[in-house]
Amino acid sequence: MKEAAEYLKASELIGIPTETVYGLAANALDPNAVKKIFEVKGRPQDNPLIVHICDLDMIFPLVQAVSETALRLAEAFWPGPLTIVLPKSDVILNEISAGLDTVAVRFPSHKIALALIKEAGFPLAAPSANLSGRPSPTTAQHVLQDLNGKIPLILDGGKCEVGLESTVISLKDDTVKLLRPGAITPSMLKKYCGKLEVSGAVLKRLKKGETAPSPGMKYKHYAPKANVVIIKGDLPDFIDYVNSKKSQDTFALVFDDEQAGLAVQAITYGVKPKEQAQELFSALRRVDELGAKTVYVRCPDINGIGLAVYNRLLRAAGFQEIDLSL
Ligand code: TXA
Ligand code: MG
Repeated sequence: MKEAAEYLKASELIGIPTETVYGLAANALDPNAVKKIFEVKGRPQDNPLIVHICDLDMIFPLVQAVSETALRLAEAFWPGPLTIVLPKSDVILNEISAGLDTVAVRFPSHKIALALIKEAGFPLAAPSANLSGRPSPTTAQHVLQDLNGKIPLILDGGKCEVGLESTVISLKDDTVKLLRPGAITPSMLKKYCGKLEVSGAVLKRLKKGETAPSPGMKYKHYAPKANVVIIKGDLPDFIDYVNSKKSQDTFALVFDDEQAGLAVQAITYGVKPKEQAQELFSALRRVDELGAKTVYVRCPDINGIGLAVYNRLLRAAGFQEIDLSL
């Protein structure tokens, strides 16, 4: 932990585990370190970063104000996988907010992340520790695959508990706007706010010229090299369809125990929504390792955390979907 904090103090980046996905961490108050994040990831400059804190009091210098609703949500879900976008203070570097007048703040629950922020004594800017556009890393090995030779240290905290990035929200009075779904679900948020709006970009492609409420939504994301296609409909129809497309490098991404009857190579990603969240990104990485050119994916149930699973899959698929029940 000491060594990791020393690197951060010297403007270096390190890979860290959080309860959601692994982060590529830098001193959020150090412009040189923050610049390196964009270089190492190949991240577009207009995509802002989340600032991570290890205690509620750390938020106050970073923002202009914390509204009553924001505080209620923070107290309900922090530490945990919720990111809150608030009006930024002067402390926030332009590189962090990418020119916006807001900053995204998150208080993670992972012990290693918390201990490191405490040891360092400053908040950490940390995007997911993947190369830009690749699936987010849920193990230290995934971070190594993407960033080997580019950063001096990765803290290995094992497999991430959630497996998908945090829920991102912004606020207007008592209304919460969901910008990115995650483990803190719409029904959980509703209990602590007057109204909840799901941003259109959560389930739909942005139209040409439309401004993204969260810049990350603009990019094809979480995508393996293979062409991903989501298939809606029941299992027998899925099997018939995929078998009709059979080739050496055609794959199926199905729920556990659904391989029987498939004539193509199959990878699984759990059954329950929580398991699917945990396993989706490593399954997408495996698709590439096995050399898939096309992968047909069984569509997840979109309730609860399933909304987040589906949101990531849509981006991985560049919104390609086929509904066999029609
Ligand atoms: O779970 C997580 O949030 C992980 C771990 C490492 O904490 N971090 C993460 O960071 O997913 P990143 O950079 O991969 O995604 C941050 C998302 C992007 O979609 C970005 O556009 C959005 O948050 N975001 C950041 N600042 C924002 C702001 N001020 N307003 C709106 N969206 C913002
Ligand atoms: Mg990311």
